Amino acid sequence: MNDAIETPRLVLRPYVDGDAERILDIHSRLEVIRWLSNPPFVPMASLDEAHARMKEWRERDAEREHTVHLAIEPRETGVLAGGMGVTPLPGDPEGRYEVGWHLHPDAAGHGYASEAAVALLDTVFADGLDEVWCTMYPHNEPSARVAQRIGLTDLGIIPDRWYGGDSHIFHMTRQEWLGRDRD
Ligand SMILES: CC(C)(COP(=O)(O)OP(=O)(O)OC[C@H]1O[C@@H](n2cnc3c(N)ncnc32)[C@H](O)[C@@H]1OP(=O)(O)O)[C@@H](O)C(=O)NCCC(=O)NCCS
Repeated sequence: MNDAIETPRLVLRPYVDGDAERILDIHSRLEVIRWLSNPPFVPMASLDEAHARMKEWRERDAEREHTVHLAIEPRETGVLAGGMGVTPLPGDPEGRYEVGWHLHPDAAGHGYASEAAVALLDTVFADGLDEVWCTMYPHNEPSARVAQRIGLTDLGIIPDRWYGGDSHIFHMTRQEWLGRDRD
């Protein structure tokens, strides 16, 4: 699953070499990367690293079904706004997946992450994924609002078996997703 996904305002598409500069701009920012994984948070420092990151994403997408990293591009600007992905949960013995998102700060506050997440989940559930998890730092309110806005089930702040410590964890099954109310 690595075709482009269209939404009213966005194109979710595979990364291309021309994205390197913007990826560097996004991933060199502590304010973004401090939410994306466990410490240490190491800001990206060069265009070479941006190209290597895209290569790593492509390889991971090819390795395992349902894994996908997509660029979020608003039609209005044509400027890469951020990224969205479904990826295997680290070390999960049952091979389960998580959904994740990030935006350049200059692209936040427009609903792009929520719009992209709905479209991506529509696609991965249509492709046969059974369930998806979403785990974030307990005080990551903007991200929790995205998860709540798109209707993931809020399991609260609970022990995180994948990243350690306590996380704010959300969950969604295909059945629940297909059965939810859309307005
Ligand atoms: C998490 C993150 C993607 C959320 O970004 P965001 O811009 O708040 O989320 P959305 O793109 O869905 O936009 C929603 C906001 O836009 C506002 N908005 C403006 N116009 C809108 C529109 N047309 N449609 C929907 N929302 C709109 C909403 O009111 C909402 O603001 P609020 O949350 O203050 O109420 C962003 O904060 C980020 O990249 N953080 C760093 C990385 C990160 O934490 N990733 C998640 C790790 S788990």
